Amino acid sequence: MANETATTRQAIDACFLGPYGENDTMLEKLVVEGLRDHVYWRRNFHPEDPPAISTRAAQHPDYLAFEARMRRELHQLSAALKKSVPFHSPRYVGHMVSDLLIPGLAAQILTLPYNPNNVSEDAAPVTVDMEVQVGLQLARMLGYPHDPARDDCAFGHLTSGGTLANYQALRLALALKAFPIALRAAGVPDIALPDDDWTAFNIAPSAGIALLAQWQGWLAAQSVTAGRRWQAAVQAQRIEQLGLVDFFAAHPQLRVPKVLAPITAHYSWSKGLKLLGLGRAQLQLLPERGMRVDLDALEATLLECERERQPVLLAVAVLGTTEYGTIDPVDGVVDARDRFAERGLGFGVHVDGAWGGYLATMFRNADGSLRTLAEVSNGFEAFPSPGVHAAFAALGRTDSITVDPHKLGYLPYGAGAFICRDHRAMALLAEQADYVFHDATPAGYLARYRSLGQFIPEGSKPGAAAAAAYVTHKVLPLDHANFGRLQAQTIVSAEAFHNRARRFANEMAASLHAVVPFAPDSNLVCLALNPAGNRDVSHANAFVRRLHDELRCDPSQPLQLKEFFGSVTTLTPEALGEAEMHRILQALGLDPATLGGEHDDRLLILRHTLMNPYLIDQENGISYIDRYFEFLARRTAALLALERAA
Ligand SMILES: Cc1ncc(COP(=O)(O)O)c(C=O)c1O
Repeated sequence: MANETATTRQAIDACFLGPYGENDTMLEKLVVEGLRDHVYWRRNFHPEDPPAISTRAAQHPDYLAFEARMRRELHQLSAALKKSVPFHSPRYVGHMVSDLLIPGLAAQILTLPYNPNNVSEDAAPVTVDMEVQVGLQLARMLGYPHDPARDDCAFGHLTSGGTLANYQALRLALALKAFPIALRAAGVPDIALPDDDWTAFNIAPSAGIALLAQWQGWLAAQSVTAGRRWQAAVQAQRIEQLGLVDFFAAHPQLRVPKVLAPITAHYSWSKGLKLLGLGRAQLQLLPERGMRVDLDALEATLLECERERQPVLLAVAVLGTTEYGTIDPVDGVVDARDRFAERGLGFGVHVDGAWGGYLATMFRNADGSLRTLAEVSNGFEAFPSPGVHAAFAALGRTDSITVDPHKLGYLPYGAGAFICRDHRAMALLAEQADYVFHDATPAGYLARYRSLGQFIPEGSKPGAAAAAAYVTHKVLPLDHANFGRLQAQTIVSAEAFHNRARRFANEMAASLHAVVPFAPDSNLVCLALNPAGNRDVSHANAFVRRLHDELRCDPSQPLQLKEFFGSVTTLTPEALGEAEMHRILQALGLDPATLGGEHDDRLLILRHTLMNPYLIDQENGISYIDRYFEFLARRTAALLALERAA
């Protein structure tokens, strides 16, 4: 293990610019090489064309004045940027961001001057293919079929972030759910369709895709004129064509479907439902147990939906909750989907792995096979729990997944990803109703998705982000021995942080109650604090707020005054349930009766994201985790002294 740790460290040492900019020479060389190569490319396009900018132009006063203005503005920008948040530093344990991987950063910078637009191959002949390949790389990591020669191969694409990937999941699920209704309404012959609208609206996603494939085959067998006519007839009945109002008016047996998501779900789900026009009211939030979705509550909700003939669009499971890093029991959610599909209440399962998606690398061998619980747990104290292993093992059975390369993928912002298990469903999102495709060769698959703009929510989009993700995944393949090492480092740090937090609690017991409210599933660890002797929630919150003021970004002060950066979140009885909330309040010495009222209906707690690879600095024998707790001990003591003096 000692050897493995050393090799892991050395491999990681080449990955990032580093907290001190240690790898500056490597990055500088790569950037300069890339820029020079780009200039050669320009010069070699039509070398017979003479330079359009004269060599004397640089002496003209207007040229010089422009350059001077530009330099001034760039210097000011560079100076202003010094107030940025130091995400690269192991003193940053706040939000879901850290240093950037050099392969991604260099690939992105290298690609920028070519300015490819991944809306289609016409504007991005190179990077649009890379984006499709990134989808396949991620599909492999998640356990989806990833051979484009397979009819049911997965498909994935990049988005601006997790929010848009979640929105894409909603769009696709709705298109698939409503499509059988359009087939029925158009009166398509020769295909065995469900007998009534309710049944048609509630078939399982896999059955919906099979029906779509059958329809495509049938359409291809028609004459061109008949094919066009039927295509138009079905198109006219689709929910995307009619809009929600006319669609549901035409099918009075049906109601607007609900989305079931855990109460910990990111607010992008609320945005998505509003954007799609389903309405925020259709988002039903399910309670949690220990911040993981309560499967009994899911079952009860589904039974109620079945009883009330309330269709369900999606059940969402979160792989790494935004606030606590907890992992929902994905296996239990897909089991529920399969059970209810048999009972006639079909719905899809989407995993929001915006945060935790890349943790899947730890669960994969180089050949793509799944690692056992014993294999994954080697080198960790408690990770992964059997439940967490089962959740990752079940990813391949879900219908679609969000993964954010700009979070645990350590890539620059502007890179989320949406991946669906069976690409055939994507035909329903095509902007030009082009249902007829059954060219199952890899070339057919790639050719199809070169018109990426047809399928994605955006139009123009940066090819540079695709190049960054593609190159990074080639340099660090998405398995445990490569990308997984980075993820493993985050878990090692989280376990060290958790242990240190418990020691901190013991050391501080005389003056402060400190509690880790739930054992971390992954690499986010929260810490609840309350001055000893205090029983009042609002006073505990004020104390944590003052501490957080010292941990948050403050552009009015020099950056160096900040010792550490952290973030906060809250605990509520709605999310936790009364019993669990009381357990935590009592462990903190707080009186549950003081919870409530306008401002203090929740408990404010510190939240730490432990993704910086140098939180434990082996080179210098420094643990920034220890230093953070020493800082907390100092600052809490100072705040308590102030309270006593007041
Ligand atoms: C679980 C989860 N889903 C979705 C999102 C939204 O991602 P983005 O901010 O990239 O749009 C986040 C962001 O933190 C998240 O944690």
